[in-house]
Amino acid sequence: MDVDTAIAGLRAVRAFEDRPLAADDLGAIVEAGRRAGSSKNQQRWAFIVITERERLRALASVGPFAGHLAGAAAAVALVTPDPRGPGQPLSVLWDLGLASQNMILAAWARGIGSCPATVYDADLAGRLLRLPPGRTCEFLLSFGYPTDPSALTRRLRPGGRRPLHELVHREEW
Ligand SMILES: Cc1cc2nc3c(=O)[nH]c(=O)nc-3n(C[C@H](O)[C@H](O)[C@H](O)COP(=O)(O)O)c2cc1C
Repeated sequence: MDVDTAIAGLRAVRAFEDRPLAADDLGAIVEAGRRAGSSKNQQRWAFIVITERERLRALASVGPFAGHLAGAAAAVALVTPDPRGPGQPLSVLWDLGLASQNMILAAWARGIGSCPATVYDADLAGRLLRLPPGRTCEFLLSFGYPTDPSALTRRLRPGGRRPLHELVHREEW
């Protein structure tokens, strides 16, 4: 699978089969995250791999759009220092985006769907994940074999991505 094909085809998947991921595949996913570049190579991230059904169900309550975690085969909680804290530049979140997209693409190349979940209740996420002081989880990723494999590459609805002419400027705004 070449990179252009993956980028063009990749879609978010929120409905998963009730079967675990192959251990090698889950390992390849977090390894892809580990490989990501980061600001000053600081790698201020930790990844918590979650496969227990009860914990996945509980984590589905951390945000209004996190329901897909409940049925996922696995989730990866993305843990960082608090990006709003003193001396924590916004690059923490940029770094997480790079690591996330690596994991999403590594999964997709193995026929595994994924979707981000935004944490609205960071205190609840912190308790469920037993985070130490000074660490926060603002996003998780769910992973699983899609109930409908065509969902991995389903066609975009019209307007599903803004056209280039609306967002690309040349030389100046
Ligand atoms: C930072 C970020 C947060 C997201 N949070 C959620 C979320 O909480 N729940 C959800 O279902 N999807 C979430 N998504 C997935 C987006 O809805 C999805 O990427 C977008 O709709 C495009 O989907 P598509 O690739 O299938 O067209 C998030 C995506 C990003 C990049």
